[in-house]
Amino acid sequence: MISQRQLFLQYIAQTSPEPVTLEIVRARGVKMYDQNGKMYYDLISGINVSAVGHCHPQVVKAIHQQASKFMHLMVYGELVQSPQVQLAQKLVDLLPQPLDNVYFLNSGTEAIEAAIKLLRKFTGRTEIICFSNAYHGSTFGALSLIGDEKYKAAFRPVMPGIKTLPFNDIAALEQITNNTAGVIIETIQGEAGVLLPGKVFMHVLRKRCNETGALLVLDEIQCGMGRTGLMFAFQHYGIVPDIITLAKGLGGGLPLSATISSRHIMSVFKENPALNHITTFGGNPLCCAASLATIQVIEYENLLQRIEEKEMLFRSLLQHHAIQEVRGKGLMLCIRFESASINKAVIDKCIENGLFTDWFLFAEDCLRISPPLTITKDEISQVCNILIKSIHQAMMV
Ligand SMILES: Cc1ncc(COP(=O)(O)O)c(C=O)c1O
Repeated sequence: MISQRQLFLQYIAQTSPEPVTLEIVRARGVKMYDQNGKMYYDLISGINVSAVGHCHPQVVKAIHQQASKFMHLMVYGELVQSPQVQLAQKLVDLLPQPLDNVYFLNSGTEAIEAAIKLLRKFTGRTEIICFSNAYHGSTFGALSLIGDEKYKAAFRPVMPGIKTLPFNDIAALEQITNNTAGVIIETIQGEAGVLLPGKVFMHVLRKRCNETGALLVLDEIQCGMGRTGLMFAFQHYGIVPDIITLAKGLGGGLPLSATISSRHIMSVFKENPALNHITTFGGNPLCCAASLATIQVIEYENLLQRIEEKEMLFRSLLQHHAIQEVRGKGLMLCIRFESASINKAVIDKCIENGLFTDWFLFAEDCLRISPPLTITKDEISQVCNILIKSIHQAMMV
């Protein structure tokens, strides 16, 4: 009989030359199980998606309840749908003013596309500033903002009017001018290997945008939804963006994203012409119900209050001479090794030893640590034991 693996290799479009091909048949909490019943800890949460773990009972219940009412209704923006409305109200409650208007979409990259269109239409300007090693998605507008030429080269010409500045370089912010429609930046860079900007940099960035009339877009698609210990990473910096983009953890495991701004800025989508930005599935009721339940779990289980303690535990247990650095914030961490080849060898051993993780697009020497926020201290100890054992084994060959 043809195996699922063979079918996968034959029929699914591949994105890398040597896919891992683990066959996962079930996942609960921070654990995933393959077809032979072997358990793997999930150290990456489907790349920062499963914030409250796989199949959290409250999230599953919310999906079931909504599925029994309706799963999809016609035309985004015309019908009042309670799951969307409830979720939008909750997000606005969690965010500071003036972020009080929510546009739901399906994926991170679409949230960025909506932000790009808002920047252009609201300001009437075309220049957009982004940063080295930025990742904002794979559709054309978002791709144009990628701060690494390797991923853009084959698709040039990309969107015109993009200026890429060095990340965390205060002097470079002078290049934001009265011609700039907006600046799009990850509050904490993910695919660069979890890089945090300095507080002064973020304050100068906010100030420079205010001075020039450029809008500030914070991409919290990877670092938002509690991952860093606060619901939104920008709250660590004491600044407020004009637009925020959310996805990944937002949907609690279902596909959902949001571009959030003020009513004033968002109103440009409403007319001249009407239906200026639309989506068939954005804000799907099942996804919104899952999202609201996820946020409620984060709150009821006091997950945010324990993130710092969990980060400290990771840092204290990850001691090995091959570890160059443990970098990041909260449960958005990475281990940096001396080279990409060492990292690859460690990752391979981790998978053999029952721990699933990967590397970053622009930091192949870094191993990703982004477990569900629900991971317990006991599970962190077990995960770190496997990591240290795998590093030993990888260094011996
Ligand atoms: C910071 C950031 N922005 C945008 C995206 C794109 O999200 P999606 O893959 O849902 O389109 C990602 C995905 O990794 C991301 O990390």
